[in-house]
This record gives sequence, C-alpha cells and structure tokens, in this order.
Amino acid sequence: MIKLAPSILSADFSKLGEELKNLENNGIEVVHIDVMDGNFVPNISLGLPVIKSIRKETKMIFDVHLMIENPSRYIEDFVKSGADIITIHYEADKHVDRTINYIKSFGIKAGVSLNPGTPVSSIKNLINVVDMVLIMSVNPGFGGQKYIEYSSDKIREVKEISNKLNKELIIEVDGGINKDTIKKAVDAGANFIVAGSAVFKNGNIEGNIKALKEGM
Ligand code: DX5
Ligand code: ZN
Repeated sequence: MIKLAPSILSADFSKLGEELKNLENNGIEVVHIDVMDGNFVPNISLGLPVIKSIRKETKMIFDVHLMIENPSRYIEDFVKSGADIITIHYEADKHVDRTINYIKSFGIKAGVSLNPGTPVSSIKNLINVVDMVLIMSVNPGFGGQKYIEYSSDKIREVKEISNKLNKELIIEVDGGINKDTIKKAVDAGANFIVAGSAVFKNGNIEGNIKALKEGM
C-alpha cells in the first residue's frame, strides 16, 4: 500500500492546525515533519514545541525527519513530543546502528536517510535493522527543488536488498515529488511518498492530493 506523506514544511504555519485537519479530511494518514538545525543543513525549520502542540490536533502518523547533527542527543525529546517514526541521517551520526536501536527501544519505528551523494551500499547491513529507509531525492534543506533522477536507481537498489531479505521495509522518497515525478519513485519501489510544495501549492490541498494520486 502506497502512502502519500505531505511535508508540513510547505504548509502555512500561521494555521497549521487547520492545514492538518484538511490533510486528514482528504484521506492522509502520514504527515512528514522536517526538523532542520542550520548545521547539518543550511536552513532552520521547526522543533519540539511545534510537534508537541500539533500532536494534540491529529491522530495521523508523525513521520519525523531529523536533519540535525548528532541526533542521538534529542531522540527521547522527539519521542515525548509525539513522533511515531524517527529518521536520522546516516551522514549525521558516527554511531548510526546504536541510535537506530535506541529509537526502537522506545517502541516506535526507526529510519535511516541518505543524502543524494551517499551510496546505498553504505547502509547495506543496516537495512536489516531499520524499519524505514529514506532516500533523499534532493539535497536536504529546502522545499521546492528538482527531483534528482538517479534517486530512482537508489530506491530500486534498496528494494532489491529488502526483497532478498524478505523484509517488510518502508521505502520513503523525499524531495522534488510532483505529479510528473511521482511515478518514477513509485515504479522504483517507494511506498511512502513525501511531497511538500506539490501538496500545499495554491492552497488547493484537495486538488493537489488528487493530482498526485492520479500521477502514481
Ligand atoms: C527537504 C525536506 C523535504 C521537503 C520536500 O530537505 O526533507 O521534506 O520539504 O519538499 P518538496 O516536496 O517541495 O521538494
Ligand atoms: Zn523530509
């Protein structure tokens, strides 16, 4: 089952609660939350208090994408704020295996993410340990960038490894997804599809979600 996970990075933060309700009313089950520290990526987005306050507004799955250095320092805080899935970057942690197991010890799902320049081979062994692999299809930091074509090959590679392991893995793609690129990611094997600007553009959430689903 393929799930569309809107990234609230492109939402109107002055009415976040309303935007979430709107997503829910349009059949969305997973919301993608981008946390940036201005260090791992050249941008700062939102953090713990925001997640905590929107947790009261919705039962949707909170898929928290940590684009922060040394994420292990904050795992417990993000769990307490209401995350259902926490994804860390392979490039941001010297002890990825340890942090993944630490996330799982709280009884939630753990993911590992790869920047475009990081090969899938670097997490070959970790795939057995994680619940989710997030393939970045843009260089993280900003919404509204262009889909990097070789990301599809990386998704395919992850899919092949998980098939061999006979493992039920969430394969998520993030960045540059629109009604034209979505099919490439889905055909390659992604089952969680993040989309920010393509969902929130022109304030037409309903129409945008429909167009994305039709493009799959
Ligand atoms: C980028 C973020 C993405 C971003 C996607 O660093 O991780 O989730 O919001 O935005 P679009 O869909 O506009 O490329
Ligand atoms: Zn993201």
